Amino acid sequence: MNIGHIPLTNNLFVAPMAGVTDRPFRQWCKRLGAGYAVSEMVTSRRELWTSLKTSRRANHDGEVEPIAVQIAGTDPLMMAEAAAYNIDRGAQIIDINMGCPAKKVCNVWAGSALMQNEPLALAIIGAVVAVCEPRRVPVTLKMRTGWCHDERNALVLARAAESAGIAMVTVHGRTREQGYKGLAEYDTIAAVKAALRIPVVANGDIDSPEKAREVLRYTGADALMIGRAAQGRPWIFREIAHFLATGEHLLPTPVAQVRQWLLEHLLDHYSLYGERAGVRTARKHIGWAVRSLPGGEAFRTGMNRLETCKEQIRAVGDFLDELADRQALWPAIAPGSAQERAATIASTPCDASIAAANQASIRLTA
Ligand SMILES: Cc1cc2nc3c(=O)[nH]c(=O)nc-3n(C[C@H](O)[C@H](O)[C@H](O)COP(=O)(O)O)c2cc1C
Repeated sequence: MNIGHIPLTNNLFVAPMAGVTDRPFRQWCKRLGAGYAVSEMVTSRRELWTSLKTSRRANHDGEVEPIAVQIAGTDPLMMAEAAAYNIDRGAQIIDINMGCPAKKVCNVWAGSALMQNEPLALAIIGAVVAVCEPRRVPVTLKMRTGWCHDERNALVLARAAESAGIAMVTVHGRTREQGYKGLAEYDTIAAVKAALRIPVVANGDIDSPEKAREVLRYTGADALMIGRAAQGRPWIFREIAHFLATGEHLLPTPVAQVRQWLLEHLLDHYSLYGERAGVRTARKHIGWAVRSLPGGEAFRTGMNRLETCKEQIRAVGDFLDELADRQALWPAIAPGSAQERAATIASTPCDASIAAANQASIRLTA
């Protein structure tokens, strides 16, 4: 598939996750089967662009193209300036954040709060598209289904966004009110897909090859975006890609292979953050990777006390060496996988008439 004129290698995307999808993690996912990755959100507040946090977020050194940067903010002019600033630093695609539920973001009317104010949302889209179009940079939009259950306006906003020049829409199947609770729903995503000509990406709770196939089938979406299930398991992209292509599961990955990938990721991570910050911020990635392993929790507790790259690398290497002596293969599927959620979707009939009924049942706020 393409985003605007830009071709992608496949339709499996890494979700933008602040504090997670930094350049090393995006690289790791792309190496292991993701066709596309978006940066963590970058603020539109000019005074913060030179801060260490934002400049790390804007780091794309050696990143496999296309380079996509997500911007967040509330003011159309500032958002347009942020888009131009990031294009000058290598962004080839600009994504507008209308999906983040964080209070810090929503209290200032950014992120998913913008879905409550359609005129402002469209003014932002218009301003960003106006600055990106002449530079041949496609603009994409990430949103939720709406603000709350009774205000699910994703369809209205997606239609208007398409008319305003947006090149692709991603919908996380939850409202702002839900945060990350409950289950993602896919009817709204199916309705958006049915109404738009531009690519539509389904997001929310996709955490196994079966669930991926089911969400694609149910929504008819052009692509899937995966967030939390890729934490500590970026090879989920190749597992899903293989399953979608063949209908069969990829053979489980050898522990020795994961050990090598994880150590390489840690070295890349330290190269971006340096030793002090790098050791601390790497802990969550290691913790996620080992959480499904026997002894993983105890290892994580001990590892969190280590302060140097050398100690951290050695501890991870030794732990996985010992594991490899006991079991050759990494557990095939992460705990908490969505097998039963896949069954839930499958039990709901999906055809054109149901999709139409779903569309009608969505309260349109325009
Ligand atoms: C730690 C974390 C940080 C996130 N940061 C962002 C962000 O910066 N921008 C954004 O659009 N969504 C953000 N999200 C939402 C994800 O992109 C995604 O929509 C959500 O996690 C649902 O997908 P999943 O069920 O596959 O995790 C974040 C989610 C998590 C868990």
